[in-house]
Amino acid sequence: MNVIFYAFQKLEICSMNTNELIKKYNVPGPRYTSYPTVPFWKNQTLKAADWLEKLSQKRLQTTNTSFGIYIHLPFCESLCTFCGCHKRITKNHQIETPYIDSVLQEWALYQSELTTPIAIKELHLGGGTPTFFAPEELVRLTKGLFEQQQIDPAQCDLSFEAHPGSTSLVHLLALFEVGYRRVSFGIQDYDPIVQKAIHRVQSFDMVKSVHLKAKELGYSVNHDLVYGLPFQNLKGFASTIEQTIELSPERIALYGYAHVPWVKGTGQRGYDEHNLPKDAEKRALYEMAYDKLLAAGYIAIGMDHFALPKDPLSLAFDHKILHRNFMGYTHRQTDDMLGLGMSAISDCWTAFAQNDKTVEGYQAQIAKGELAVFKGHFLNEEELIIRRHILDLMCHFETKWSTELQHIGFYLPIFNKLEGLLQDELIEISEEKLVILPKGTPFVRNVCMAFDLDLHRQTPDKPLFSATI
Ligand SMILES: C[S@@+](CC[C@H](N)C(=O)[O-])C[C@H]1O[C@@H](n2cnc3c(N)ncnc32)[C@H](O)[C@@H]1O
Ligand code: SF4
Repeated sequence: MNVIFYAFQKLEICSMNTNELIKKYNVPGPRYTSYPTVPFWKNQTLKAADWLEKLSQKRLQTTNTSFGIYIHLPFCESLCTFCGCHKRITKNHQIETPYIDSVLQEWALYQSELTTPIAIKELHLGGGTPTFFAPEELVRLTKGLFEQQQIDPAQCDLSFEAHPGSTSLVHLLALFEVGYRRVSFGIQDYDPIVQKAIHRVQSFDMVKSVHLKAKELGYSVNHDLVYGLPFQNLKGFASTIEQTIELSPERIALYGYAHVPWVKGTGQRGYDEHNLPKDAEKRALYEMAYDKLLAAGYIAIGMDHFALPKDPLSLAFDHKILHRNFMGYTHRQTDDMLGLGMSAISDCWTAFAQNDKTVEGYQAQIAKGELAVFKGHFLNEEELIIRRHILDLMCHFETKWSTELQHIGFYLPIFNKLEGLLQDELIEISEEKLVILPKGTPFVRNVCMAFDLDLHRQTPDKPLFSATI
């Protein structure tokens, strides 16, 4: 039977209001920066040689020499208790030089192993806090990466994450000089009560000062905000959004707080669960921010991003060429990403590999002259098809399939799972296309979950993901 028409026959008029929909769909679910998602990766031990073989095969199959590079710089001086990133808290700055040495050595290992040319099209310094490092160390790192290639900001997007409190004018000047044009500031929330609860006190005036310096130099600026943090309420968060609009950053990431205290090392235990806005209350924070940002002229992009209309991210969303990888949304179409540094993930579309998740383990492996990958996943044909669907949904809120393909066995369970979303009028399905309706966009992760065959086959016995809303 044609599964699509089967689904149509079952369509009933949806009578659920938004609060009921949120109750129904607010379940733990991945953020889909990859498919398969990390907890479902099969190669729990991965040899560097196997990963390199897979990567080399992929490189030989393509004429595209472009690469994206992500570098994980894990150190922060002080712990923000909401943080879910891989980080190491320390005030010891002696670790900077040996860590950068390791990253450059790792890069040299890749260069000696790969026979095809590598053109860096995207470079992102993430963390942790890249601006924990002295400007000269970050410049040394960047120049070391580009030894074989000229740094041309018109051809390559260089960006870094920055804690406003540790970003000096010297950082901004030195990094601009070597080609960085985007900086992403962690803001989170300006409400003093929220800041105290998450152990991250930073005033609007301090942020404004560093933001204006970056703008004056010519940077495009992103602000990270988080909704769903402890003690957040509509009034306080509305002020945060208004203050953000006042500074007019080109991009805003509005992340839903991912509460994952069971993940080792997050430190998310410094506040009471009851202090967290949940379900409809949490969603109302997002809706309020969404309305204010759109009224201020921002374009909503994908799941949690906003950008001014002329920003490349908005243009990519408009032209349906937006891309998503482990760093989030990007306008660059680089299929292959090398992740350097502790815990960094590499992706060549047909395979993923992750580096050792401890600073010591990572550096010890590199010191032996070996790549530090320890686990990963090689995608089969079925996973490659699903990966494309999930990427399309996350980037464009729609996905297509060929009419022949829909009869392949694995589509049947997918259409069965989509039925509920269809009945709730969150999606529309035709012969060869699924479109997420405007009312359904908050539930994009739930739509992706219908395609996620790993979740169909194995319901995790312990929580793996944060709630979708
Ligand atoms: C590596 S941090 C940013 C750079 C710098 N360390 C800082 O804090 O300013 C990247 C961003 O991830 C987001 N983030 C961290 N933990 C999160 C969580 N548990 N839920 C949602 N977003 C989170 C924050 O918005 C943060 O700015
Ligand atoms: S939010 Fe940024 S500064 Fe705070 S602990 Fe996380 S990575 Fe470090």
